[in-house]
Order: sequence, then structure tokens, then C-alpha cells
Amino acid sequence: MEYISIGGKLPGVSRVVMGCMRIGAMDEKSMDELIDAALASGINAFDHADIYGGGESERRFGNILREHPSLRDRMFIQSKCGIKEGEYDFSREHILSSVDGILKRLSIDSLDLLILHRPDVLGEPEEVAEAFDELKSSGKVRAFGASNMSACQLEMYNRVLGENRFLADQLQLSCAHTLLVDEGFNVNMMVPAGTVRTGGTLEYCRMNGITIQSWSTLQYGFFEGTFLNNREKYPELNRKLDELAAKYGVTAGAVATAFVLRIPGVGQAVIGSTKPARIRELAEAGSITLTHSEWYELYRSAGNRLP
Ligand SMILES: NC(=O)c1ccc[n+]([C@@H]2O[C@H](COP(=O)([O-])OP(=O)(O)OC[C@H]3O[C@@H](n4cnc5c(N)ncnc54)[C@H](OP(=O)(O)O)[C@@H]3O)[C@@H](O)[C@H]2O)c1
Repeated sequence: MEYISIGGKLPGVSRVVMGCMRIGAMDEKSMDELIDAALASGINAFDHADIYGGGESERRFGNILREHPSLRDRMFIQSKCGIKEGEYDFSREHILSSVDGILKRLSIDSLDLLILHRPDVLGEPEEVAEAFDELKSSGKVRAFGASNMSACQLEMYNRVLGENRFLADQLQLSCAHTLLVDEGFNVNMMVPAGTVRTGGTLEYCRMNGITIQSWSTLQYGFFEGTFLNNREKYPELNRKLDELAAKYGVTAGAVATAFVLRIPGVGQAVIGSTKPARIRELAEAGSITLTHSEWYELYRSAGNRLP
């Protein structure tokens, strides 16, 4: 497993991150095994959100931490807030009360990274800065990140956030969802609407040392399913993934995870399996580096064309 420093400020965090969005209905024993598998594979980063499983994901994870308090020191724990029923909310009050709820459910005193989940168009950077200052000085949050934000949104906030600026941006990215890189290939080209709509976010993050974390690393569409073994929709991609899996002695899922990690600027891949064996296999992505040609072959095999 490789480890990075998020935003150049938070060292020692694994490149493969265990996503906790789907764990809300798991029983304690299965969750114990899942966390064990992650830690034993070198994964030390865990991604939560206050809304996952309606709070159950954090609550059950917190039960494990209460039973085994020494685990906390081996973990980098991040969570998100800012999404409410039918609204996004970056108000000071909402951020502060959300963090209290997150800490209580997770049964911890401090979060390593608080991520604002989806941009609130009514949000005020000065108000977010006030909330972040309070969270930092009270010791409830160590550092801050964003999610689903464009370059311009990151810049707007980071100009005001100062020391508490966003160090990471969590964005959808997989072999079958490559908008972040499609844009760079299609500058000034006649392409379908939508191909060019991230506003240079990949390049902006690279230039400003903001770590990109991929979400839904194995999915296509918006939670439509995994492209792994979906040979009807992604025959070429699966053929190529299998070929590279055999070459590297890992699974196709690990190759798909290595695909996103090979993109400069993408520091981490968040993976969402609930199966210990798959977590162990996917973690191996942190130990392989695809060649330049292999990355392009995978990109094209997912149905993408280079101009
Ligand atoms: N910031 C955001 O807006 C945002 C949005 C969505 C997600 N996230 C984060 O990203 C994490 C990952 O998202 P995701 O759950 O959509 O991730 P994913 O890793 O792309 O998908 C995981 C799902 O694929 C299934 N799967 C099927 N075959 C698989 C195989 N061979 N290997 C591995 N998985 C296979 C898993 O099933 P099994 O459980 O049976 O393995 C699981 O249901 C979430 O947990 C969350 O932390 C963030």
C-alpha cells in the first residue's frame, strides 16, 4: 500500500480508502471483519458521511470503536456534512451541529477531515470560515475538505478559508466515469454537451495541491451498478481489465482502482465494497502502477475516443 499526504498537510494516509456508505445495515460481526480486512491490507482511511444509512453507518462503526478503542489510533477518519433532505446547507449552525452528531455517532472526540458534501449555492465562504475556525480551535476537526466542487468553487472558498482551506476534493471518477479527464482531451473540440463541464478541476487541484479522492470507483452512471463483469455493457473494458489483472496477479477490481490512482492529481480511491475478501483484493491497487500505454488502453476500452 502507498501512503500520501492529503493536501501536503496530512501525511501517512492510505491511497485506497474504505468507503462506509453501504455498511449501515451490516451486523457487528461482519463489520468487525470488514474493518479488520481493511486494516490488515494497509488501508487506514475510512470515509463516512452523516447521511450514510441515515446515520446508521457512523453509529455502527462507532459501536466497534467503543468496543475496541485502540483502533482509533490506527485510523484516519473523515466524514461529510452539508446534505439535508431536499437541500444543501453550508450554514454555520448546520455545519456545527452536524459535526456534533458525527462525533457522537462515531464515538470519537475529533475528526481527521471534515468534508462539505455538495456545494450549497446559498453558502457564504465567510460563514463557513467562521464554522471551521470554531471546529479547529475546539479540536473537533483537524482539517477540511470539499466534495463535488469545481475549480472555481474551490477557489472561491479557499480565498477566504486561509489556514483551514480545503485540502481535498472528493469527486466521482472511475474507468466508466471519466469526465474529469475527458475535458483535458477535448479542449476546443466539437463534443457532446456535458463532456466539458468540470472547469479544469483536475488541473486546478494539481496546481493547488488539493488531493482528489475518487468516489464510486467501480460504478458506472449514478449508482447504476458496477461495470466489473458487466460484459454486456462493457465487453472491451472487462476484457482489458482481466488481461491486466492476469499480468499483475490481482483482480480486475484492483486494476480498475489502479486506473484512477494512475492519474496525476488523484491521490486516493474510495472503494465501497462490503465484502472483506474484496476489500483485501482492492487494496492491492495501492501496490501496482499501470504503464502509460495500459492506462490509455483502459481509457479507450471503456468506449472513450481520443480526438
Ligand atoms: N462524495 C460523494 O458525493 C460520494 C458519493 C458516493 C459515494 N461516496 C463514497 O465513495 C464510496 C464508494 O462508493 P460506492 O460504494 O459507490 O463504491 P464502489 O466501490 O464503486 O461500488 C461498491 C459496490 O460495488 C459492488 N461490487 C460488485 N462487484 C464488485 C467487485 N468485484 N468488487 C468490488 N465491489 C463490487 C459492491 O458490492 P459488495 O458490497 O457486495 O462487494 C458494492 O455494492 C462510498 O462508500 C462513499 O464513502 C461519496
